[in-house]
Amino acid sequence: MAAAYSLSSLSTFNLQFSSQFSLIKLPATPSKLILQSRRRSHVISAVVSETPPSTSPAKPTTPPIRKIPGDYGLPLIGAWRDRQDYFYNQGRDEFFRSRIQKYSSTVFRTNMPPGPFISFNPNVVALLDGRSFPALFDTDKVEKKDLFTGTYMPSVDLTGGYRMLSYLDPSEPNHAKLKKLMFFLLSHRRQHVIPEFHVSYSELFENLESELATKGSAALNAANEQAAFNFLARSFFGASPNDSGLGSDGPKLINKWVLFQLHPLLKLGLPRPVEDGILHTFSLPAFLVKKDYRRLYDFFYQSSSPILDHAETLGISRDEACHNILFTTCFNSFGGMKIFFPNMLKWVARAGAKLHHDLAREIRSAAGGAAVTMAAMEKMPLMKSVVYESLRIEPPVSSQYGKAKRDFVIESHDGAFQIKEGDMLYGYQPFATKDSRIFDRADEFVPDRFVGEEGEEMLKHVLWSNGPESGAPSVNNKQCAGKDFVVLASRLLLVELFRRYDSFDIEVAASPLGAAVTVTSLKRASF
Ligand code: HEM
Repeated sequence: MAAAYSLSSLSTFNLQFSSQFSLIKLPATPSKLILQSRRRSHVISAVVSETPPSTSPAKPTTPPIRKIPGDYGLPLIGAWRDRQDYFYNQGRDEFFRSRIQKYSSTVFRTNMPPGPFISFNPNVVALLDGRSFPALFDTDKVEKKDLFTGTYMPSVDLTGGYRMLSYLDPSEPNHAKLKKLMFFLLSHRRQHVIPEFHVSYSELFENLESELATKGSAALNAANEQAAFNFLARSFFGASPNDSGLGSDGPKLINKWVLFQLHPLLKLGLPRPVEDGILHTFSLPAFLVKKDYRRLYDFFYQSSSPILDHAETLGISRDEACHNILFTTCFNSFGGMKIFFPNMLKWVARAGAKLHHDLAREIRSAAGGAAVTMAAMEKMPLMKSVVYESLRIEPPVSSQYGKAKRDFVIESHDGAFQIKEGDMLYGYQPFATKDSRIFDRADEFVPDRFVGEEGEEMLKHVLWSNGPESGAPSVNNKQCAGKDFVVLASRLLLVELFRRYDSFDIEVAASPLGAAVTVTSLKRASF
């Protein structure tokens, strides 16, 4: 039965790839931690106060019930106006920040793009702090059906006619079957992950070096996409795209197919009448990308026989399994690495030469001259913390949605709000993970933030995987199936980088998904 099935009972992947949490003792409720950091700032007042310090820990107080502020405006017009503010007049962060100020609340009503004619109900209740946001993870209270991309769902013609795992609620029987399949995908070739990462990302760095030598700078994003796709194909399937009909076209085909799914949410930099008048207002027809998708499908079908065999034992047809394997590899995994890797390198580059030196020293002394291992990486606390801090400060998937299954109350730091059955809840994650009432210096990149016992305790407020970093994906929740894999791959990127180089410089520009990074120098390892 699905409800009785958990990741620990089905996958050795977690056991292999995440040992760091077994030692961490976590406080029972998130609010305790908030109080803890408040208590720290209360130390000064305790010293000057006559009141003796209390011996029993303060209980989290339930804030008073408030009416949810904000409104949706007139039909069609309200949604259109909010979309203009979100994309053009204000931009995303200012859109939310200005409304927090206007309503004196981190919970309020607004419309989310795209709105008509792509989604006919863009009304949401926004959750913009670290205390209210986790309500989105409680699958007893919120339904996660057909809302992976928000208030609209792309046509199933883009995915072989099937609703993909990411769009299924855990109450649907296919969710457990397909999530088990993804755990199998992640675990069955797990011993290949580290070596294949080394092969694919060594190629990347060699290519960057030669481009730097000839042109004086090297574009990271396209090279990263090629390396990410090669790495995923080689480690998950033992297949090399270059030796197949795909050649080096994989990333290009995926990007086009993903665009057909996400164009209603993206600012592509096209003239506004085209971008907003067409791409934010109408869905692009799926048949335009059918041929490209077929090429990807054929590659995955030919490469994944053992996984398709396993799917049949779980009661999933080979065809449905293949579409899901394609989706998880190309949308979830490739898409995530495409956004996150350049972002992480941006933060590490900006932090400067001292951090680079510290990372190089830590990584080289823990790994020695041998191939890196899981055990060696456990001895790299600064490197591990840098990965978590990058995931905290700029979560790669910034938006999460959930529809209230029943009436319940959501608490922010300042108020409690009555949610009604059917309300669409929306969380903008960067505001939850940069909540200054949870994290000190919340807007700053603090490389060693998660080092040590106190630092590790704060991992439960790192939410990039659609759940706390201290939690685990299971068939009963919607936490990212690849959570530990992503952390591992991100660690491997830093290990590869700082084994080869002492330091590096980049230039950064904006792009529709993540940062556009150009490498301007790579200083070869000197110690
Ligand atoms: C940086 C990389 C990644 C990021 C940022 C990321 C992020 C996420 C997020 C935020 C969700 C939840 C979306 C929602 O329901 O609102 C999710 C779900 C999911 N992710 Fe990832 N992901 C990444 C990589 C991967 C990888 C490598 C896999 C490989 C197995 C994967 C498989 C999945 C699956 C299968 C789901 C749906 C889970 C379910 O329906 O229960 N992801 N991911």
